[in-house]
Amino acid sequence: MSDKFYITTPIYYVNDAPHIGHAYTTIAADVLARYHRAEGRDVHFLTGTDEHGIKIVKAAAEKGVTPKELADEVVVHFQDLWVALNISNDDFIRTSQPRHEGRVQELIRRLVERDEIYLGKYEGWYDEGQEEFVTEFTAAENDYKSAIDGKPLVRYSEPSWFFRLGKWVPKLIEHIEADPAFVQPRSRRNEVLSKLRQGVEDLSISRRSEKLGGWGIPMPNDPDHSVYVWVDALSNYITALGMPEIGDEFNGKAEAYWPADVHLIGKDILWFHAVYWPCLLMAMDVPLPKTVFAHGWWTSEGKKMSKSLGNFISCEAISELCEEYTRDAFRYFVLREVPFGADGDFSAEAFARRYNTELANDAGNLLSRTVNMIGRYFDGDVPEPKQRTTEGVEAKFLAEPIRRLQEKSSEMMSRCRFSEYIGAVLELASATNRYIDSTEPFKLAKDPSQRERLGTILYTCAEAVRIALSYLEPFMPEKVAEGLAQLGVSGGESRSLSERGCFGLIEPGTKTVKSVPLFPRKLLNE
Ligand code: MSP
Repeated sequence: MSDKFYITTPIYYVNDAPHIGHAYTTIAADVLARYHRAEGRDVHFLTGTDEHGIKIVKAAAEKGVTPKELADEVVVHFQDLWVALNISNDDFIRTSQPRHEGRVQELIRRLVERDEIYLGKYEGWYDEGQEEFVTEFTAAENDYKSAIDGKPLVRYSEPSWFFRLGKWVPKLIEHIEADPAFVQPRSRRNEVLSKLRQGVEDLSISRRSEKLGGWGIPMPNDPDHSVYVWVDALSNYITALGMPEIGDEFNGKAEAYWPADVHLIGKDILWFHAVYWPCLLMAMDVPLPKTVFAHGWWTSEGKKMSKSLGNFISCEAISELCEEYTRDAFRYFVLREVPFGADGDFSAEAFARRYNTELANDAGNLLSRTVNMIGRYFDGDVPEPKQRTTEGVEAKFLAEPIRRLQEKSSEMMSRCRFSEYIGAVLELASATNRYIDSTEPFKLAKDPSQRERLGTILYTCAEAVRIALSYLEPFMPEKVAEGLAQLGVSGGESRSLSERGCFGLIEPGTKTVKSVPLFPRKLLNE
């Protein structure tokens, strides 16, 4: 892997405030960004908002404000939520920013120059909620309603600029077949391939500007038309960097991040990212992103999220959960509860249970036990072990979970297997708890002849906890820093995460600091 790592989230529509779906992708992207930074890579993490298009125009009209006013109001909710969730994005792009608008026009000019677009006539069904034309077949299949939000489809008939999408499809199929990492997870890749093989029409990439009340990016070759919002939006991944390929006077640093390592998205917008986007890039002769990873959707308390059902996990609901459990626990839970890629259900009870069993009991309790015993038997100083390895008879069975983390964590991260990665860390915590139970240091402490053995056991525990916490750092940066401070060590400024995963780094004599439990247990209403 190169030492640069560029990760993006979708840019979110500003027609409404953020909810758990938006938070989910952004937290996952943040974890990857933090993980790769901790591995010493030069990371660029981009998120932002998608502010053009009919959806925003309509939402603004309903509220009696201009699209710009609506965007300016709603974007703050996204930005605030990212601060509240400790998201470490390096840039935040808004598609209404001049930097974006100008570069999108450059990009269209490039397509015009290369004869990749032509003026045609669009006639057919349009799903305004999704900003997408729908084929006659799909429209009829869904009773001329949106398959996504059930609203009636609208009949459109108008001149439009088309991108020669069909021309690039054979090359795209070849690429997807040759590179299994390009579209993930595998099941989604198969879906995309089979849909592509059914044939794909050219893509209408403009809309009449008057329909949008002028809210959009004018087509540079035909100002009566605005750039289709999906082309506008997808371009953000490169317009935010600025690229010489699109005629930009780039700043010399950001453009080096392209191609993106991962575009993280939800499954509903995979087609746009796995088909339209790569074909547009090929047409512009720009390298393709390395991976498009589509995650699943959340339901809430067993049902589709809806404001009227009262199960909507809004940004306010997220803030309340963070208040009660801490934001780190929330970040942990959403990535632990469901394998990334699959659909999942959010339930307050599942959150509370997982918090108590995994964070309070397994991880937090292990830290408290270790720090307490070092405090009680060694005045708080990490004892000198007989040897600084896990090879000693006592600690042998900790070697396996540590080795698994060392060998597999990078692969798990590269395949977005967050839940499995956390599971591997918990396995180390459980093994260490079992180690304490079986060696019974509290009994050994009463026997002065066992002093050296006691020291080795507690040193080993301190190391196991340090390693487990270190691997959790991308998920729970604040809690891990607190936990490591109790062990008397700081985070990883000078060492990469995989270096910190090695056993034997704590210096004997390090002062531990007894403190409050990292994850205090919550009372459950059984
Ligand atoms: N603006 C487009 C994306 C353009 S990217 C070039 C868009 N915006 S969105 O605000 O509607 O949605 C953004 C993301 O939220 C999508 O990835 C979508 O999958 C995700 N989610 C929306 N509801 C969700 C759940 N209930 N669960 C998980 N993610 C969900 O689409």
